[in-house]
Amino acid sequence: APEADLAGRHVVVSAGGTREPLDPVRFLGNRSSGKQGYALARTAVARGARVTLVAANTALADPAGADVVRVGTALQLREAVLKAAADADAVVMAAAVADFRPAAYADGKIKKKDGEEPAPVALVRNPDILAEVSAERSREGQVVVGFAAETDDVLANGRAKLHRKGCDLLVVNEVGEAKTFGSEENEAVVLASDGSEVQVPHGPKEALAEVIWDQVVPRLAPRRA
Ligand code: PMT
Repeated sequence: APEADLAGRHVVVSAGGTREPLDPVRFLGNRSSGKQGYALARTAVARGARVTLVAANTALADPAGADVVRVGTALQLREAVLKAAADADAVVMAAAVADFRPAAYADGKIKKKDGEEPAPVALVRNPDILAEVSAERSREGQVVVGFAAETDDVLANGRAKLHRKGCDLLVVNEVGEAKTFGSEENEAVVLASDGSEVQVPHGPKEALAEVIWDQVVPRLAPRRA
């Protein structure tokens, strides 16, 4: 059995990809399956944590022993994460959150009209949930972990993102149409705000999840009485 080094801890993990509706039948979305976040939830349960898994549009079975909160949009994910984070020792944002959502929602299906140019889709910004959780730190000593999904200049972009978002750890992974998204495997670099940098070679998403918890545990605040 693994060491129960997360016993007595509450951790929040977000997983999956948000969908931003345009009309009753269409949305803007991304390719996240939720597998990396679910691997984080499963490994945290195995290490003794109480786990809240905020799952956006995933088609995966609920991990045994985790409390699963299902959400659709970035705004719903924000609400669920902030609520669960209030008494969390660690928050890990593995979800792929849409940076923008359609400015308007059409109550009926948007129709194409003969001879008309398609109308551009106006977008507005979604709140940055990771930056908000990092700034808020609802519990003293809360460890906040972000992910960075990059397609190029992976490390340089990751470092900049770590500082911009204000989190303690940032897991930088490379993504593409068939890379990382949906796959059983991942490879990443875990950057820390204190300058440390851990390379995680290509392997199962569980293995990366374990390394992330290995990096979280020594940074947690002392257990309360
Ligand atoms: O789900 P899988 O198929 O297993 O794939 C795993 C994964 C590629 C989705 C995962 O490993 C990953 O990289 N997740 C983060 C994807 C992402 O949205 O990256 P980003 O670089 O756009 O965002 C950076 C960080 O800010 C992320 O922690 C994200 O959750 C957070 N964010 C982003 C936008 C926003 N409005 N609010 C946020 O909190």
